[in-house]
Amino acid sequence: MTELSAVNEATAPKAEPKKAAARPDVQTVTHVHHWTDRLFSFRVTRPASLRFRSGEFVMIGLMQTDPKTGKEKPLLRAYSIASPSWDEEMEFYSIKVQDGPLTSRLQHIKEGDEIILRPKPVGTLVHDALLPGKRLWLFATGTGFAPFASLLREPQTYEDYDEVVITHTCREKGELAYGAALIEEIKKDELLHELMGPDFHEKIRYYPTTTREESPKMGRITDLLRSGEVFSDLGIEPINPETDRAMICGNLAFNLELKAMLEEYGLVEGANSDPQHYVVEKAFLD
Ligand SMILES: Cc1cc2nc3c(=O)[nH]c(=O)nc-3n(C[C@H](O)[C@H](O)[C@H](O)COP(=O)(O)OP(=O)(O)OC[C@H]3O[C@@H](n4cnc5c(N)ncnc54)[C@H](O)[C@@H]3O)c2cc1C
Ligand SMILES: NC(=O)c1ccc[n+]([C@@H]2O[C@H](COP(=O)([O-])OP(=O)(O)OC[C@H]3O[C@@H](n4cnc5c(N)ncnc54)[C@H](OP(=O)(O)O)[C@@H]3O)[C@@H](O)[C@H]2O)c1
Repeated sequence: MTELSAVNEATAPKAEPKKAAARPDVQTVTHVHHWTDRLFSFRVTRPASLRFRSGEFVMIGLMQTDPKTGKEKPLLRAYSIASPSWDEEMEFYSIKVQDGPLTSRLQHIKEGDEIILRPKPVGTLVHDALLPGKRLWLFATGTGFAPFASLLREPQTYEDYDEVVITHTCREKGELAYGAALIEEIKKDELLHELMGPDFHEKIRYYPTTTREESPKMGRITDLLRSGEVFSDLGIEPINPETDRAMICGNLAFNLELKAMLEEYGLVEGANSDPQHYVVEKAFLD
């Protein structure tokens, strides 16, 4: 295991990784960590042939019995891969929806259990979909942090940009814990320091905010951008299409509002086939 994969006790197991299960599409859970009563992260074995780009998502799930036929069939949902492309295991960061068909059950998985993982990664939150720039903005709400947990552990992120601003807006403080722990571990990571130089950690500007519980920075990131508070807090210039690139991942209303704001700054939406200034992906379907 490399230094960077050992981000912390919560995100990386200490034991040797288990071998992937013999059946295709079935992977074994190696580690589970519950962050709040609504959020958990877990790691699974990685299919030997699976290649993906940091920031992409896959379909994962559990088997369920079809009530009509009595037959077993997979119940799958889209999940951002939270681990980077080089990691020997795969990490996911998940909501627990109490009456959600998948997560009402998925929240109970434990080490040694099996999940289904369809090895067909896709997505737009990838470096390939952006033109070269100087500063990368990663805008997340809730579990929308997951693809950025992958990109923030990817050395290319720091090779390509002078500065990386990661904003994470949640209702409550506890919902920031996974992201905060990850940022701390990345900043201390010896491999990244070796690869990127001693000042590498200064490239990361972490900007967590809450909207419904008191915390050091309150407010929706959209409002904080509009008021200019983000720029003055970080001591940086406003967003500019010449220098700034952005990725957005949150609920639909957030994505749409921020997308309109970025367009006002003069940024153009990109895609894998047409790299531009910013890209967007939903953190869940409303
Ligand atoms: C591209 C993409 C990537 C995704 N990546 C992730 C991920 O990394 N982690 C993750 O937890 N979910 C992710 N999701 C959402 C995921 O696919 C499921 O919706 C989620 O696991 C809940 O499944 P469910 O069957 O329990 O409930 P569902 O029937 O799927 O959802 C029930 C309701 O719960 C709410 N909900 C669903 N997901 C979330 C969420 N993540 N945060 C807050 N509220 C939610 C919505 O209101 C939804 O209508 C992603 C969705 C998409 C489209
Ligand atoms: N988080 C919880 O404690 C909680 C508990 C029980 C149930 N739920 C349910 O779970 C679902 C998802 O909740 P969630 O908290 O994970 O995600 P969410 O509702 O998407 O909220 C996450 C964060 O995004 C902010 N936000 C929402 N719309 C925005 C916009 N247009 N622009 C900028 N910021 C925006 C929210 O601020 P605001 O607070 O200002 O909206 C909040 O800080 C909801 O249906 C909710 O009712 C949540």
